[in-house]
Amino acid sequence: MTTVTPTSNDEVKALEGPPAGLPDVATLANLANAFFRMLPGDAGDALPESPTGVPGAPASTLLAGSVGVPTAVPDHGSLPPNAPPTTSPGGIPSHGTPPRLAPASTTPTGMPDHLATGAPAGDGRMGGIALGVPEAYAAALPIVGTPPVSAPASPYYFLGDSGTSYAQAPQPGALDDRVTAQPFGLPGADDLRGLLAGIDLGYARSPGPTAPTADPRFYFVDPAGAATGSVPSLPQGAHPPFDVNAVRRDFPILAERVHGKQLVWFDNAATTQKPQAVIDRLAYFYAHENSNIHRAAHDLAARATDAYEGARNKVAHFLGASSAEEIIFVRGATEGINLVAQTFGKQHIGEGDEIVVSLLEHHANIVPWQQIAAEKGATIRVIPVDDSGQILLEEYRKLLTSRTKLVAITQVSNALGTITPVQEIVAMAHGVGARVLVDGAQSVSHMRVNVQALDADFFVFSGHKIFGPTGIGAVYGKKDLLNSLPPWQGGGNMIADVTFERTLYHQAPTRFEAGTGNIADAVGLGAALDYLERIGIENVASYEHNLLLYATRGMQTVPGLRMIGTAREKASVLSFVLAGYSTEEVGKALNEEGVAVRSGHHCAQPILRRFGLEATVRPSLAFYNTCAEVDLMVSVLRSLARARR
Ligand code: ALA
Repeated sequence: MTTVTPTSNDEVKALEGPPAGLPDVATLANLANAFFRMLPGDAGDALPESPTGVPGAPASTLLAGSVGVPTAVPDHGSLPPNAPPTTSPGGIPSHGTPPRLAPASTTPTGMPDHLATGAPAGDGRMGGIALGVPEAYAAALPIVGTPPVSAPASPYYFLGDSGTSYAQAPQPGALDDRVTAQPFGLPGADDLRGLLAGIDLGYARSPGPTAPTADPRFYFVDPAGAATGSVPSLPQGAHPPFDVNAVRRDFPILAERVHGKQLVWFDNAATTQKPQAVIDRLAYFYAHENSNIHRAAHDLAARATDAYEGARNKVAHFLGASSAEEIIFVRGATEGINLVAQTFGKQHIGEGDEIVVSLLEHHANIVPWQQIAAEKGATIRVIPVDDSGQILLEEYRKLLTSRTKLVAITQVSNALGTITPVQEIVAMAHGVGARVLVDGAQSVSHMRVNVQALDADFFVFSGHKIFGPTGIGAVYGKKDLLNSLPPWQGGGNMIADVTFERTLYHQAPTRFEAGTGNIADAVGLGAALDYLERIGIENVASYEHNLLLYATRGMQTVPGLRMIGTAREKASVLSFVLAGYSTEEVGKALNEEGVAVRSGHHCAQPILRRFGLEATVRPSLAFYNTCAEVDLMVSVLRSLARARR
């Protein structure tokens, strides 16, 4: 027999009715209704509005938790199959609310992190609206098209005239021993606009992101601390001012806590976090569009195909390709490089030929070339770098000969952050008839890329490093070149006709997409690119430049800290070692305070060994990071430095 436990005075009274102490049917019905009104799918009817206006998420309740309740993520559990979408208060179609998330971790007392925070539910976590439409900040922004395909004279993305020297270097001052955010001489602020108010950074004088300049200046501080150069220019009136706090609300994971501390995500070079728009787009695909593509006459096949090919168009537009036929979906940059090695490499690299790579390369842009070189009897030549971690162009020039068949070069070093002069590298390679593959894994999230302006023959990147899903990435290749290459994998999708005597292949891109690809994540990548376009990549570049400068200044105040990679042209990465500590110890100490950084060799052992190291600590920034987060990291590092001085 079921036992019913009364939960309120009214319910106790109702239970008093039946002689045997059993509730009557009406009472049971009331109890059941009260209970089911508490379930996620119907919470909006039962629960008061939260301070954020989101129904069903009262502030600081265990029911809602600190994860909050997204407004419109499909949850078909509360609806009959095929029920029409309901409408959220904002008029956005919704299928209800999702089940609440499991706690990510526990505190030392065993309490789930997200319950221990006291952070109001829904606080800053309502970034996305379902159906792949970015909400709030990003959605309100106009989409700005890719800049015209006019090749800038400079290889550097931050074209423009010089900026003014940065504010006075911070003076190390007396600090207490607490590990808390301590400003280090510049005002610690959430918003760089406030920080930089009154400092002439040259925006007004900037001619625009693609305007050529014969005398490019570099923005990065030199090792001695003297600030030089310009900042990335902001197209006048293209976007509203960048608001980092608004951006942060679009990324639910940034409200996560680890070890009871607010998460600071400084591991963006390893992977980036995802905006709600991407999360929602993936859920929407599986809820409403899921099908294999290209192969059926039914509606869902058409929806899935449209979504997948739509994503291909977005990638083509984002990279400035001339056509979507130049975009091949792959698992990521690594698979993209392997694809080029196994197609172009197999066809065009022979005995005695040479492949040029730089010392900066990620293992993914070394090993596939070693493999093809070993198979073909070719040789790898390596471009050296200077002590700042920048490519030595004159040394590169000496490596180029008629034997050079391919140059494989990163646009941004994942280990040091160096921005390489890719456009010059491409032009010089073409001068000897070599093709060029540009590894854009670390560049596309930080700067405007235009493959036609670069004149790259191949360009690869990974979706997960640009706010999209893992397991998806793209290869750009010039159309005629792609269509002249053999397929690398055989199977369905890539064929036009098969008999046992012979097989006819499709043209690019499907020629290189055998089997069922990662359809949903390609669509998610498209949503990520939409999101970034709404924010404006020029806004991102400008903000990150200043944040990198701010962080560099702060880290220069830490006794015993050695920066690895001090090129004047840098993006995002702040590799370092700290005297008296292993890199792992530093990484763990930062993690204790909620700060996630990578420590290790970063899959780039040759460049670290150039600096006599096997590992570094590598904070890496994205446009949702703040000065306050930098202050916290610097504070931890200063505490560590004091402890072992
Ligand atoms: N390539 C990634 C990194 O640099 C994994 O961390």
